[in-house]
Amino acid sequence: MQRSIYGLGLIVLFAIAAGACSKASEEELDPPCDTTGMRYSIDILPVIAAHCYSCHGNGTITEGVDLDGYENLKSRADNGDLLGAITHAAGYTPMPYNQPKLSDCDINKIKAWIQSGAPDN
Ligand code: HEC
Repeated sequence: MQRSIYGLGLIVLFAIAAGACSKASEEELDPPCDTTGMRYSIDILPVIAAHCYSCHGNGTITEGVDLDGYENLKSRADNGDLLGAITHAAGYTPMPYNQPKLSDCDINKIKAWIQSGAPDN
């Protein structure tokens, strides 16, 4: 009697461990995307600098598009160019130019920042 209770306990332990493992790997594959309280300096600038500044920043102004600094990005956010380009909307040249689309998470972060008024924060 004691033996079977011990065995049952082991099975339950294995089940819990297996459940924990599969949950952890799911999170690794699909990390949650937090788009609340987006800030220009912390959440948006690093994405733009990494993916856009090679052509539109640090003194490089491709086709008259300068995204360097807050004011320049803000005007492109306000007129719809920024979102149109990164979501590959009709009528815009898809950005980053000839490079893979930004991740859904990065796009959603930029979208959330624009929707909150594209603040300088
Ligand atoms: C490899 C260079 C390169 C990179 C990187 C790049 N762009 Fe561009 N961008 C261009 C070129 C070239 C044009 C002009 C395209 C045209 O007129 O057809 C352009 C045009 C634009 C325009 C105007 C689009 C339009 O249709 O009016 C916007 C907005 C823009 N880029 C935003 C971005 C953003 C945001 C990123 C980063 C996510 C980015 N670009 C990355 C080269 C680049």
